[in-house]
Amino acid sequence: MNLTLKPAAGLSGVVIPAADKSITHRAIMISALSEGVSVIDNYLAAGDCVSTLKAFEQMGVRHEIKGGSVAVHGRGLGGLSKPSGIIDAGNSGTTVRLLSGILAAQNFSATITGDASLSKRPMKRIIEPLSLMGASLKAREGTYLPLEIAGNPELKPITYKSPVPSAQVKSCVLLAGLFAKGVTRVIEPVKSRDHSELMLLDAGADIRVNGLEVSVTGPARLKAFNKTVPADISSAAFFMVAGLICGKSSLEIKGVGVNPTRDGILEVLMKMGAKIKLTPVSGALREPVSDLRVESSALEAVNISGGIIPRLVDEIPVLVLAATQARGTTVISGAGELRVKESDRLKTVSSQLNLMGADITEKADGLEIKGPTKLKGAAVESFGDHRVAMTLAIASLIAEGETVISDVDCVNTSFPEFFGILKNISGAA
Ligand code: S3P
Repeated sequence: MNLTLKPAAGLSGVVIPAADKSITHRAIMISALSEGVSVIDNYLAAGDCVSTLKAFEQMGVRHEIKGGSVAVHGRGLGGLSKPSGIIDAGNSGTTVRLLSGILAAQNFSATITGDASLSKRPMKRIIEPLSLMGASLKAREGTYLPLEIAGNPELKPITYKSPVPSAQVKSCVLLAGLFAKGVTRVIEPVKSRDHSELMLLDAGADIRVNGLEVSVTGPARLKAFNKTVPADISSAAFFMVAGLICGKSSLEIKGVGVNPTRDGILEVLMKMGAKIKLTPVSGALREPVSDLRVESSALEAVNISGGIIPRLVDEIPVLVLAATQARGTTVISGAGELRVKESDRLKTVSSQLNLMGADITEKADGLEIKGPTKLKGAAVESFGDHRVAMTLAIASLIAEGETVISDVDCVNTSFPEFFGILKNISGAA
């Protein structure tokens, strides 16, 4: 579906962003491997997480949805059955990569496919460690879906020094490590999001963290747990930037997960001069949560590189938009991972924002953004990438004239309510 959007004079109101995608995936997977019924409140009922729920349903894990909660009937570590057919991960990289760690330890084989975008994303990064643990994995050209996994119930523990700063790789190895007898260790080049570690602790696993090393002792016995999923900072980010750059705006963004491995966007925006006030919400266990008050602000350019990249990796598209409105040249480097996301985000974001009048130069592993630039409405493409579509929609709020964005349905993979919220806070008809 194509969508035509008009500029807005300012934004006001309350935003409740979609529930956290990373935490929802993990809650479904870890509860499926636990003994008993886990209740996950405020789970993300969007495309990517539905793919995960369906995959476990195919392996005999029942769930019931009641309002905004899902109850997962865990089957314990040894309780999965051979899937009733090919598992379709849709657009979801997290589904494939984390699920592969679990499938690697089963006494059956399974095949995972996905949509056109997911079929272009590299899986060698998980094939390598899982093969070292003793599973057999076959992929097209050694790295692309479909991925065939012949499980090995006698997985060996390994110490894996991951060459990529990826929470998906780390989580994949840790999930496989639950099944291997002994201590499995993952050493990351830079700390990535730690939701898997925190939730495995909720479920009673023996997880230890020492700097960049995380270990798990297997075989684990996991017990059911209850979890309330906070709002996704990656979804909130679109409205943070919208509030900062759009006319005279004041937004309240509620219940946002501000885990320190995910909050790089707040650090960078504040360095740019953003007026964002955090009010911690009490009672959040392990995963901190805050309400955010965002006021329109004059922004200054910044440099974004190194260890902060994994803490804001999914927010770079919308940060690029913020940088187009900041005074000076913003330089993003060390962000080559963006080329293997749902689209090549360095290319797709820069090319589409440039069509709207931005001044962005693409580099091998980053971008240079000169600001501030006036944006104008244009016909732009999402390339089927939800975060590109949402970035362009926020850009349209400050562009002169109408913006037509192609293929916006992809937003349903992570944030189905996005356009409805946008309409409410901009007072659009
Ligand atoms: C995710 C990790 C990140 C992120 C993705 C979700 C996760 O990917 O980009 O959207 O839930 O673990 P990488 O592990 O590839 O960095």
